[in-house]
Amino acid sequence: MATDSLTVTDNRTGETFELPITNGTVKAIDFRQMKANESDFGLMAYDPAFTNTVSCSSSVTHLDGDAGVLQYRGYPIEQLAEKSTFTEVSYLLIYGKLPTQSELDSWNSQLLELMAGEEVLKTITSDFPENAHPMGIVQATVAALGTLYPDSKDFDDDAASLEYAKRLIAQIAVLGSWAYRHGAGQPLLDAPKNASYPGAFLQMMFGEEPDPRIERALDILLILHADHEQNCSTSTVRVVGSSDADVHASVSSGIGALYGPLHGGANEAVLQMLARIETKDNVPAFIERVKDRDELLMGFGHRVYKNFDPRATIIKEAVDEVFQITGVNPLLEVAQELEKIALEDEFFVGRKLYPNVDFYSGLLYEALGIPTEMFTVMFAIGRTPGWVAQWWEMKHDKEQKIARPRQVYTGDMDLDYVDIGNR
Ligand code: SDX
Repeated sequence: MATDSLTVTDNRTGETFELPITNGTVKAIDFRQMKANESDFGLMAYDPAFTNTVSCSSSVTHLDGDAGVLQYRGYPIEQLAEKSTFTEVSYLLIYGKLPTQSELDSWNSQLLELMAGEEVLKTITSDFPENAHPMGIVQATVAALGTLYPDSKDFDDDAASLEYAKRLIAQIAVLGSWAYRHGAGQPLLDAPKNASYPGAFLQMMFGEEPDPRIERALDILLILHADHEQNCSTSTVRVVGSSDADVHASVSSGIGALYGPLHGGANEAVLQMLARIETKDNVPAFIERVKDRDELLMGFGHRVYKNFDPRATIIKEAVDEVFQITGVNPLLEVAQELEKIALEDEFFVGRKLYPNVDFYSGLLYEALGIPTEMFTVMFAIGRTPGWVAQWWEMKHDKEQKIARPRQVYTGDMDLDYVDIGNR
């Protein structure tokens, strides 16, 4: 009779072990009992880049990569993008339920109040070189924010931690806009007294009230980026938080992970790639360079989605709507030709490489007037509620302790020191 277990025979000793299967996983620690001899430490699971490792149990976000499903606290991303707002989704991610009208009104007014910028962070931002990448500035100013609130270091004070987590969701929009304006040589602006979250951000960026349609397009983009289960940056936030580091130190580390072009930096890299290809006619030659491994098709592929990234589908629809307002970006034609060829070519189809969230988001950000070097900052602003919700969940997860993986050592051992004269 089938049972949810593995029967493992260690052929080194002939011993047999029964390992329970729970939620499609076996506990890695269950292999430790398998020893070649008494002095053996026991077996461990070898998994570079954690490609087949479950690091936690979480109820924040559900992904089904084969089916192209993404749900925040059980609500499909398609419904949230159509009917919700970024601040409502932030509340949902953190509290695990949709707010009532009064809860949402209070949440929105708290976030707007918490956008009151810290003057010392204006000074810190202004002290960066004008050509400093805004992601580097934001990573630094988020960490600096933590130095302004010493009591935020008290990991066990839940009330304080939640207040600082809320503040961070508000402040990262301020810090992002300041990083941009510093680079543009413009004065750093304070948040308006009465605006939506995306509206306040756009006013701090560009100094004027945005077109409501542009504001709504940004709201949708932020919703789509709000969380994505245990991706590289969220796992980083959890690992740093597992040492009882506060939310500022943990999220600042997540920003560092997101900075990479294989992760959050991909949206910026997509626009640079499209600009390099320049016209639709150059696409076939570029595709050949990708197949010769001389290039990566940025904005394609995903560790989990082996189907369409549902966010890419939603963003592509938003692009069409926004371009009706702003006019079409000629690079859209290059992107569409790339997508068309890639979705027919066996190299991509055989590797299940489909457009991900970054493929069209850059075109949409550019249409909203956001400069390329700010694209990954936009990703960080959108992902902050997810990082905070995951950090909060990790903080209260009785299964979790300080993250400390092991290694297979392949270096030299027991060498004798050689004096410099004899080397
Ligand atoms: C995000 O994890 C998340 O959830 C991330 C994210 C989130 O919301 O947090 O969804 C956001 O980071 C989206 C991904 C953005 N990055 C990019 O668009 C950069 C380009 N994509 C690749 O770097 C790559 O697809 C990754 C990093 C996204 C995924 O890499 P994997 O899962 O490790 O895939 P792989 O390297 O094992 O690739 C399998 C095969 C390989 O070929 P073979 O060796 O099997 O012959 O596909 C090839 C790869 O070389 N491949 C690509 C490719 N991506 C994978 N070839 C060309 N272009 C690509 N983009």
